[in-house]
Amino acid sequence: MRVVFLGAPGVGKGTQADRIAAQFQVAKISTGDLLREAVRNRTVLGLQAKSCMDQGNLVPDDVVIKLVREKLADPSCANGFVLDGFPRTVPQAEALGAVLSGKGIALDLVVNFQVPREDVVRRLSGRRSCPKCQATFHVDFAPPKVDGICDRCGEPLVQRSDDRRDAIEMRLKVYNEQTAPLVRYYDERQLLHPMDASSAVDVVFQHLSQELTPYRAT
Ligand code: AP5
Repeated sequence: MRVVFLGAPGVGKGTQADRIAAQFQVAKISTGDLLREAVRNRTVLGLQAKSCMDQGNLVPDDVVIKLVREKLADPSCANGFVLDGFPRTVPQAEALGAVLSGKGIALDLVVNFQVPREDVVRRLSGRRSCPKCQATFHVDFAPPKVDGICDRCGEPLVQRSDDRRDAIEMRLKVYNEQTAPLVRYYDERQLLHPMDASSAVDVVFQHLSQELTPYRAT
């Protein structure tokens, strides 16, 4: 299975990518997670990326393309992958196509997550994340068992620096300008599959797993 999860910030791509990767035993590649790890580890890349991310802007294409190219070469991707948050621009999509065709493979599907804007803002402003294991919660929709503590690893949860109101607005603007054109890009290549992601997490997961089951063995 080789799929891309496309959609605005907060539509639930990361939440579903975790579950799909576990269910189908494929790798989850989240450029957001990889960049946040680089920021935490204060690598050169992380220091370059931090200000773009905090403001809600995209990190330069060459930086994320390099990250994804390295990840795709990893043996953990041999059984397939879910790309979460990549590609986000047409040049990134073109680079991905070139990397995959160089390996003699292609994408199976691009799932376009759709959620009304007001729901997205509510999801993002109530999100709490684990800085250690990257698990994601929501104060109303997916609260942790113990308030403020990660269920998975026990670390105190934090609010992401780009989940402030001004950064959320900027991320939605950037999405509309730079990422939304990928809907047409993948539609023209007959890869796009729309997904209503406005229901509860379990309901979305059930629909998504049904849609992805035919690609289990590819
Ligand atoms: P990234 O981490 O990819 O952020 P994003 O695309 O803005 O996506 P989010 O993580 O905000 O949302 P999501 O759709 O994954 O939703 P989630 O499942 O968490 O990127 C961060 C930054 O890194 C970018 O702004 C950019 O600077 C940089 N970057 C990353 N990739 C890049 C690239 N390719 N090129 C350039 N720069 C890049 O859910 C959100 C909340 O809603 C959670 O609290 C969750 O519990 C809750 N929730 C989820 N599903 C549901 C549901 N069905 N019902 C109710 N609540 C739900």
